[in-house]
Amino acid sequence: MTSDPTPYSAFQQFERERFSLIAQDYDQAIAATTSQVNDALLDAIKVKSGVKLLDVACGTGWLSAAAIKRQAIVTGLDYAENMVAIARERCPQGRFYQGDALNLPFDANEFEAIVCNLGILHFPEPERAIAESFRVLKSGGYYAFTCWTPPTRNPFMALILGAVQNYGNMNVDLPQGPPLFRFGEATECYHVLSKAGFNQVFINELSINWTFSQAQDVMPTVVVSTARLGPLLAMQTQEQQRNIERAIIEGASRYSTDNGVEIPASVVLAVGSKP
Ligand SMILES: C[S@@+](CC[C@H](N)C(=O)[O-])C[C@H]1O[C@@H](n2cnc3c(N)ncnc32)[C@H](O)[C@@H]1O
Repeated sequence: MTSDPTPYSAFQQFERERFSLIAQDYDQAIAATTSQVNDALLDAIKVKSGVKLLDVACGTGWLSAAAIKRQAIVTGLDYAENMVAIARERCPQGRFYQGDALNLPFDANEFEAIVCNLGILHFPEPERAIAESFRVLKSGGYYAFTCWTPPTRNPFMALILGAVQNYGNMNVDLPQGPPLFRFGEATECYHVLSKAGFNQVFINELSINWTFSQAQDVMPTVVVSTARLGPLLAMQTQEQQRNIERAIIEGASRYSTDNGVEIPASVVLAVGSKP
């Protein structure tokens, strides 16, 4: 039997290709939604004019753009080629690198603030990514990451994963990834940031609303624009897909508003300062 030299390496390769493939759909369907927390994140790490910010796993650059609006000096890094290409187009004032969050191509103490919005749950070794951010952050600078809360506190995740659990198969043939909701728990975030050397650690929870024109749009949107949930849904049998879709439409319809459907979700925000 051959042993895997790095944890989750098949998963990393699968996700890198998948994120590059879905970059355009991700940009419109997901980043537009998750950017609801951008200002809270930038406030938490004190981003203002002139601050040298690193946006780790920057995706298509929505958060970088919000920081540039505050006149911060922005560097972004992401390992998916097409994500970086869109970020460069969106933010001509920023500098963007294709690279690995676990092995940052920057000098020690280079940045005054570092942010990672919904990246940590994708990293095969999150502690290593946090240590890398700690290394390139200046003393006195702030670091923050976010992660989805688990389905018990997150109606959107409960809707999608509940439908698969009830009407499909959670164990489809996809490379195994790190636990999706590990950092959706405040105690885990506190523990990991403190152990990495951060102080003034504080944890908060932020709301995100998923808005769709109609309940019928939820599943097709998730299928084409997400890294892990999309393939999980797409790999169900046709009958399972029909039943899952019916359950998602039924569940999403309970969140009907004048604007379509608005399904609540939330992320944990974890912040620390480098002594
Ligand atoms: C859910 S997206 C979040 C993107 C962006 N931060 C946002 O809020 O829109 C996760 C991003 O992490 C990137 N990513 C995953 N693992 C990575 C790694 N090891 N190094 C760099 N980027 C990574 C993916 O390419 C993807 O763009």
